[in-house]
Amino acid sequence: MCDDLIIAPSILAADFSKIGEEVVKVDEAGADWIHLDVMDGHFVPNLTFGPPLIKSLRSLTKKIFDTHLMVSNPDDLLEDYVIAGSDIITVHVEACPNLSQTLGCIRELGSKVGVALKPETPVSELENVLDYLDLILVMTVNPGFGGQGFIPEMLDKVSAARALIGDRPTTIQVDGGISIETAKRVTSAGANALVAGSAIFNHGPYSENIAAIRTASC
Ligand code: DX5
Ligand code: ZN
Repeated sequence: MCDDLIIAPSILAADFSKIGEEVVKVDEAGADWIHLDVMDGHFVPNLTFGPPLIKSLRSLTKKIFDTHLMVSNPDDLLEDYVIAGSDIITVHVEACPNLSQTLGCIRELGSKVGVALKPETPVSELENVLDYLDLILVMTVNPGFGGQGFIPEMLDKVSAARALIGDRPTTIQVDGGISIETAKRVTSAGANALVAGSAIFNHGPYSENIAAIRTASC
């Protein structure tokens, strides 16, 4: 599990006044993927950025762009997020009235397919779409803001997601409150991709923070 662990820094916690430099720094510091939190001020109260910013970052790194859409109508802009350079697009199951259609559309556009679950949403919501997913994102905080406390009850959901996918190569990702304190608990429960914002960007050298989370996960 440790050898192929994916660490995906969330640039939500980066300094937006120099966002390009921040992406380059975190790439060089050992990020596996770059996690891009898109918020629309409707599905979640906060607002961040959209396709133009992602497009402008695309030439700065070859790392996988892991786009997490916390938006009410993801179908409207899927193509724009792919054209901007997203490699993985994760939509929230709560925002998709016709989930299989949305997932099919992401796949047709040529992106990997992810689905996110808010803390109150059970993994059973995904039973009918398991064969169409590259990634399940178990939110370990309520989406909308960085720097929140990890919700320990989500560990059982991570285990349930791991059990549900069976032999499929689906990535199990966690997002929210991930740090050296929580990393081992989530990987033991079955997560193999860890998003971290404040634990990477808020203090100290990014390379040390990423390495510390990686070590703590094993
Ligand atoms: C929350 C976002 C997260 C957030 C994580 O809605 O999806 O990606 O940036 O931040 P931390 O690691 O600070 O909890
Ligand atoms: Zn996120």
